[in-house]
Amino acid sequence: MEKNKVTMERLVNHCKNMGIIFPGSEIYGGLANSWDYGPVGVELKNNIKRAWWKAFVQESEHTMGVDAAILMNSKVWEASGHVASFADPLMDCRECKTRHRADKLIENYSKGSVNADAMTNEEMEGYIIAHKIACPVCGKSNFTPIRQFNLMFQTNRGVTQENANIIYLRPETAQGEFVNFNNVQRSLRMKLPFGIGQIGKAFRNEITPGNFTFRTIEFDQMEHQLFCNPKDDAKFYDFYKNRSMEFLTSLGLPAEKLRFKDHEKLAHYAKAACDCEYLFKFGWGEVNGVHNRTNFDLSRHQEFSGKNMEYTDPTTNEKFIPYIVEASYGLDRITLALLDNAYEVETLENGEEREVMRFAPHLAPFKVAVLPLIKKLHADKTHELYRTLAKKFRVIYDETGSIGKRYRRQDAIGTPFCVTVDDETLNNGTVTVRFRDSMEQEVVKLDDLVSFIQTKVED
Ligand code: GAP
Repeated sequence: MEKNKVTMERLVNHCKNMGIIFPGSEIYGGLANSWDYGPVGVELKNNIKRAWWKAFVQESEHTMGVDAAILMNSKVWEASGHVASFADPLMDCRECKTRHRADKLIENYSKGSVNADAMTNEEMEGYIIAHKIACPVCGKSNFTPIRQFNLMFQTNRGVTQENANIIYLRPETAQGEFVNFNNVQRSLRMKLPFGIGQIGKAFRNEITPGNFTFRTIEFDQMEHQLFCNPKDDAKFYDFYKNRSMEFLTSLGLPAEKLRFKDHEKLAHYAKAACDCEYLFKFGWGEVNGVHNRTNFDLSRHQEFSGKNMEYTDPTTNEKFIPYIVEASYGLDRITLALLDNAYEVETLENGEEREVMRFAPHLAPFKVAVLPLIKKLHADKTHELYRTLAKKFRVIYDETGSIGKRYRRQDAIGTPFCVTVDDETLNNGTVTVRFRDSMEQEVVKLDDLVSFIQTKVED
């Protein structure tokens, strides 16, 4: 068996054809940087969410979850610094009138060897002129100076569109965790260090092309905020950095396709920060970040809200504003990394091409496919089996086409087990289980089927 090279374009087409990810608003010509997860993609995404929640909330004795509102009082975003400084450095091409991020122009031109993050706007403008970097759309090199462009989407609350009514779609889920620090601490009697975890949508007005779902205007974040005594910040920063690798490899991403990149230019709130990057087909890209946010967020919320954000240590009576170590994961980017890593195209010994998604079984969108060998004879028994298995797992039923074609369709969406119902099932109570990865088959008693699958799909 031979493995063929797969391009990003082929992966995007595969996702569309197999019901994993569709272009957003497609029948209206789409909307740049927006995508819809289809019946297969939504299962994968939900499984990743569950794995994250289990690892960061359920299994942590010191973490509680929240689900805070997307729309927040605008003062939150003044306090957090997003109104003043959550901006991208943009330049317009004077020739074709398209808009570009100066840092991305430099990174693409230098193939990632120059870190534009560490440059000032003047340095970026100078570099672009000195290297005659061309507009990716028209090929000319004639850009306007850089302007800062705020990434927050605004909307208006109420019936009038006055400034006083402006509210923002949250650009990060983190602030919903910070503003609830006192509520969580008091209601659940939490002692430092403790964490708050949350999964939810965030929105950013991204204008650069997104590399499929890598950069979108609407995405899910899975964020864990660890509140601690300032003296412990370095320890927890290292802990959550290591946790990144542990979590991403537990999903099946290979360690050799993951690396850390320390930030040279720190965000307005950070004392230390790093990204964890995955090697996508288009190059290295950030999937999660770990940030030592110091006491910036809670101090600013104390200042802007007038509410006390101090914590009193019950043993020493020491009063302080806690430091926050944040571990922020992009759900869509992790989903994309898993698709990128799992998708393989093989040429089999008989010359046939096989597309297969080698997801770890616990993340596979469908755990089992149930297939009647002959629809007329075996469909009823297969539907009955569907109902039994579906109480435990996400199952898919398929009766269309030859059994070989049906196996291929399940390989292409990553279903680890195909169960075929035939005369043996009706007469002897056994089914044939066919394995996605080895393509081997095994006869299993119907009575043993649930536990047979269960042991293989547990994480
Ligand atoms: N609370 C900190 C924070 O939001 P960030 O590095 O801006 O930090 C965290 O974002 C994660 O969110 C990133 O590591 C990435 O996985 C994801 N993310 C950020 N912008 C994104 C976008 N436009 N599209 C998809 N995912 C994005």
